[in-house]
Order: sequence, then C-alpha cells, then structure tokens
Amino acid sequence: MDMGLSGKHIIVTGASGGIGLVITRMFLLEGAFVTGTYNQSAKPLNNLKDRWPDKLEAVKVDQTSEDEVGKLFATANHAFGRVDVLVANAGIANHEGIAVQDMTMEQWENTLRVNLTGTFLCSKYFFSNLEMFPGESASLILVGSTAGYFGEAWYVDYSVSKSAMHGMMMSLKNEIVHLAPKGRVNLVNPGWTMTPMAEEALTDKDMIRRILQTIPMRKTAIPEDIAGAILYLASDVLAGHVSGQTITVAGGMEGRVLFTLDETDSTES
Ligand SMILES: NC(=O)c1ccc[n+]([C@@H]2O[C@H](COP(=O)([O-])OP(=O)(O)OC[C@H]3O[C@@H](n4cnc5c(N)ncnc54)[C@H](OP(=O)(O)O)[C@@H]3O)[C@@H](O)[C@H]2O)c1
Repeated sequence: MDMGLSGKHIIVTGASGGIGLVITRMFLLEGAFVTGTYNQSAKPLNNLKDRWPDKLEAVKVDQTSEDEVGKLFATANHAFGRVDVLVANAGIANHEGIAVQDMTMEQWENTLRVNLTGTFLCSKYFFSNLEMFPGESASLILVGSTAGYFGEAWYVDYSVSKSAMHGMMMSLKNEIVHLAPKGRVNLVNPGWTMTPMAEEALTDKDMIRRILQTIPMRKTAIPEDIAGAILYLASDVLAGHVSGQTITVAGGMEGRVLFTLDETDSTES
C-alpha cells in the first residue's frame, strides 16, 4: 500500500538513537527525504547515508540551543525544501533513579531543558517553517513516554518532561491549522523499548520481571513497534483526519508494580 510518504521531507530528531535510527530507515524505505539529527554520535547516521546519499541529510544539533535548532531548519530547507513532518523524538533519561529529595537542580533542569525546551524549540522552528513555506498539510509527531502517564518513581524529572507532551499536543493541534489547514499534531508514548536508553533496566532480571507483570503481552517493544505508529501518523493517506491523539505503544501496559510480595508482607498488621 502506498502511504503517500514518498517525496515528503521529514525531520527526525535524535535520529542517531535506538528508536530514531529505525524511524529514519523506515521513512527512507518509503521513499521520503529525511533530515536526521544527532548530538554526539555521527556514526549510525553516516552508515545510513552510505545507502541513501541523496535522500538523507545528517545534522549535528544540540536541541537546547535555539541557534542550533534554527540552523537545523535552514540546512534542512537547503537540502530538501519545505519540511512536511517533524518527528520530535530526541530525549534523555538519567540511567540511575534518584529520589526527589536527592535530585540536584542541575539534573532537573538538564532533563527539562533537553526533553521539554528542546521539543518546544524544534516545534517552534517547524511552525515558523510552515509559515515560510505555505502548504495544505503538515504533521508534528511528539514522542512522550508511558512514564508521562503512569509517572515513574525515582525519575520525576523525566516523567514530568514527558507528561508535558500532552499539553504541547493539545495546544499546537489548534495552532498548526492556521499555518497548514490540514496540519495535524499527535503524540506517541512508547513503553519499555530495547534501546541504549533502556538497555540497563532491560538486562536486569528483577526489573524485567516487574515490568512484564504490568504488560499483558508479556514482552517489551522493539524500535520497529514505535516507528510503525510514527509512520502511520506521518501519513496523510492513513491518518489524514487524526489529530490531537495519543498512541501508546506498550503492549497494553497497566502501570507499575510498586512492591515485591516480601515488601507487602512486612506491612501486614
Ligand atoms: N527506550 C525506551 O524504553 C523509551 C521509552 C519511552 C519513551 N522513550 C522516548 O523515545 C525517544 C527515543 O529514545 P531512545 O530509546 O531511542 O533513546 P536513545 O537511544 O538514548 O537516543 C536518544 C537520542 O536523543 C539524542 N539527544 C540526546 N541529547 C540531545 C540533545 N541535547 N540535543 C539533541 N539530541 C539529543 C541522542 O543523540 P546522540 O546519541 O547523537 O548523542 C539520540 O539520538 C526519547 O524521547 C525517549 O524519551 C524511550
């Protein structure tokens, strides 16, 4: 089936990461032009560029810098013209959980700066790009997390940064139509997905047991699961009337296991 993505120009942020790289490859396989960003790891995108030299532009961007985000869009326009779709996928999470009373201002501000302010900046420049290049359709796809919905003890910085994606979607879906009448804004919330971000947790047997107790499908995601939802939302053919929606890709996840059986036994009166 033709998803109508061939010839579209898509910016994927965090394209060097576990999920972003697969999203980028799947868009390229559909015949799209992709401007993919990396922050520190150029290699994964360079490998893809060997296969798609005329369809992929790799740009180094720290999305906390307004200057760098502005230059990203200028480079993208120069390479492939109007940006039709932005996948705001880049994000960070601290590997070790920290209780809120021990969390430093530095960690709190850094997570919010990358995940929230960075996504705001990319969205801002995407919208000003739509103003510069008028067109009927456009699609902004935000990437949140199940942590933004269920919360996540010891990661309050991360969970707050991801729950904010809901407010961003609900506001921007009503702004985008003033720039592109058929413009859409949606949110994809991945659950546990095997990538460098989650690798440490997903190789810890106790942690896996806890996680799988909350997931009816009894498995975690692979990046292709997340990319599938993103390609669907990017496609005007498949999702042309879908805006302001959240797709959670988490195998039916119910929430969190808070205590082990031993821990609940010790509180019996
Ligand atoms: N994996 C999961 O279990 C999971 C679950 C829920 C939600 N998510 C979300 O899915 C998205 C992708 O996660 P992932 O698992 O693919 O993570 P990942 O493999 O760690 O990749 C993160 C990406 O973000 C980029 N990045 C980091 N800091 C940046 C900055 N300051 N400016 C611009 N880019 C920056 C990284 O660039 P470099 O590598 O080049 O430095 C990398 O491309 C994130 O938003 C994450 O929160 C992931």
